[in-house]
Amino acid sequence: MNRLIQLVCAVALVLGSAALFAQAPVGNSAAAGDPKNGKELFLKYTCYGCHGFSAQNGPAGNRLNPMKMTQQGFVALVRNPGAPNRMPPYSAKVISDAQLADIYAYLKTLPDAPAAKDIPLLQQIEKEVK
Ligand code: HEC
Repeated sequence: MNRLIQLVCAVALVLGSAALFAQAPVGNSAAAGDPKNGKELFLKYTCYGCHGFSAQNGPAGNRLNPMKMTQQGFVALVRNPGAPNRMPPYSAKVISDAQLADIYAYLKTLPDAPAAKDIPLLQQIEKEVK
């Protein structure tokens, strides 16, 4: 019985601390950005040079649209890209967190590419090939 109480306490402790972490500012601290300014910054800092104006490109297929990263993950990656020889790291001296929030907000507004079935020309080609 004592062991059971110990176990229940241990589980409660783990769940309790997990809830604490969930409430840590990690998820909510980032301020929402201004997409209009973000578009200008996306051009100014030449993100488009590698990721394309539509943000649907990347040298290694690293599309920024649709943007599925969290804002924190996005900022962390831009500060410290996995392949710095292919994407330059942008420090906070170069682009501030607020500016990155703007770029993130802009990327979030971009429409996703249509599905292949919704592109008439692709459908036409497919029919001709069959
Ligand atoms: C010189 C080319 C180049 C420029 C300029 C560039 N990137 Fe990248 N980017 C890459 C490459 C290559 C990768 C993939 C390598 C990696 O994951 O580190 C990447 C990956 C990313 C990713 C991760 C995408 C994913 O899902 O893996 C984000 C986010 C990103 N770039 C944002 C930006 C932003 C914002 C800018 C402008 C401030 C920018 N990049 C400018 C080349 C570039």
